[in-house]
Amino acid sequence: MIVDSVFTNAKAYLFWQIVDCSIAVEEGKIFKIGKETQMPQADEKTDLHNLLVLPGLIDEHVHLRDEGRAYKEDFASGTAAAAAGGFTTVLDMPNNDPVTMSAQTLRSRMRTAQNKILVNVGFYSEFPRKISELEDIVAGGAVGFKLFMGLQVGGLNIDDDEAILEAFKEVAKLGVPVAVHAEDKASLAANEEKLKQAKKTSTADFLRAHTEAVELKAIQRLLKLSQQTDMRLHFCHVSTEEGLNAIKEAKKSGGKVTCEVTPNHLLLSSDDLIQHGQLAIMAPPLRSKTNVEALWKGLEEGTVDAIGSDHAPHALSEKSVSSVWDVKVGVPGLETTLPLMMTQVRKNRLTIDRAVQLLSEKPAEIFGLTDRGRLEQGKNADLTVVDFNCKFKIDASKFKSKAKYSPYDGWDVQGKVVKTVVNGKLVFDEGEIAAKGGCGFVVRRGIG
Ligand code: DOR
Ligand code: ZN
Ligand code: ZN
Repeated sequence: MIVDSVFTNAKAYLFWQIVDCSIAVEEGKIFKIGKETQMPQADEKTDLHNLLVLPGLIDEHVHLRDEGRAYKEDFASGTAAAAAGGFTTVLDMPNNDPVTMSAQTLRSRMRTAQNKILVNVGFYSEFPRKISELEDIVAGGAVGFKLFMGLQVGGLNIDDDEAILEAFKEVAKLGVPVAVHAEDKASLAANEEKLKQAKKTSTADFLRAHTEAVELKAIQRLLKLSQQTDMRLHFCHVSTEEGLNAIKEAKKSGGKVTCEVTPNHLLLSSDDLIQHGQLAIMAPPLRSKTNVEALWKGLEEGTVDAIGSDHAPHALSEKSVSSVWDVKVGVPGLETTLPLMMTQVRKNRLTIDRAVQLLSEKPAEIFGLTDRGRLEQGKNADLTVVDFNCKFKIDASKFKSKAKYSPYDGWDVQGKVVKTVVNGKLVFDEGEIAAKGGCGFVVRRGIG
């Protein structure tokens, strides 16, 4: 038999060990992993020169924009950024224009993406107004629902506990997870109103609105509602010690609860806002060093399940407006997450096992991407090839993302993405995009 390709001289992360091996690929799947002499003949051979090969990384929290917000990012630029950052699969958030919140908007988003994407993309949906539509959205292939609690985004009234509970009962039946942005709308609005009245418009004022209590309140409220059902609740970008403790307690009492942190909340603190100003405004915001330490502890203990970049690109002009209340929140993250986290591995702050779990295995498990998250025969041939020794400086001007700025611009890091292989195809190679749009697939829940 002649297979499509063989990748030789890999140091691959297999079953919690790094093993010298070759990887044969046929029709986008891993056909065989073994010694070079055991490999079948192949149409194409790629020598990986003993570089580290990780199971393709999965970024469970990405805003790819496009459609009405294509000026910030589109499917081509966003997935180019993903490939350059070593992500072979990303999950796209629904706060788009139009909001992804029906079988029809989901279908149209998938259709728009199809021929443009360089990596695999799965799609979240916001909750629709009518519970009866949930089933169609899941049948349409949504990987999960997103529930934004800071502001009304979807069709589900976030002020109404009964409506949320009803939606939760239905998703429990459908078996998909609900990913939450946990900030309490009412407290946030009240805080903002007071500050605006007092003509407060600085970055410090943003922190005075988006307090730790704002996060905790939303976490507690949703934990309580979810405990009345059998649903799976996933908290996005947890940023506070108290929030994380509440999640830890819920896990202890058997709740189907998982959570994510972002590199931003692990590697920056509110002190960094002095240097970066509005550029580093995001929601939830950067927190005190005590909170940062608590997140690291949660990461080590296993309370934190996954790392998501929360890639949230905006035009630079939208970051430098005169009042903090008009700043578009968020920063790009797809091209900085892997080097930043590999640098933490080099510093012994994180083991390589934990890094792979947080960036690939667990996101695959949480979102039911059964063909991904591990290098194993039969799984999707998604490979992230890393030079673990390469030291370099982050240069945001070279990003493939349309958002060419970063709070990490100029940071010294170690661990560089050299190649990204998606569905068996080389998509990113030595700094360049090596494939055409459409190499990535639309990922539907339950179908890899
Ligand atoms: O920082 C953020 N950016 N937080 C959000 O909740 C939204 C996101 C965005 O879409 O830009
Ligand atoms: Zn969010
Ligand atoms: Zn987000």
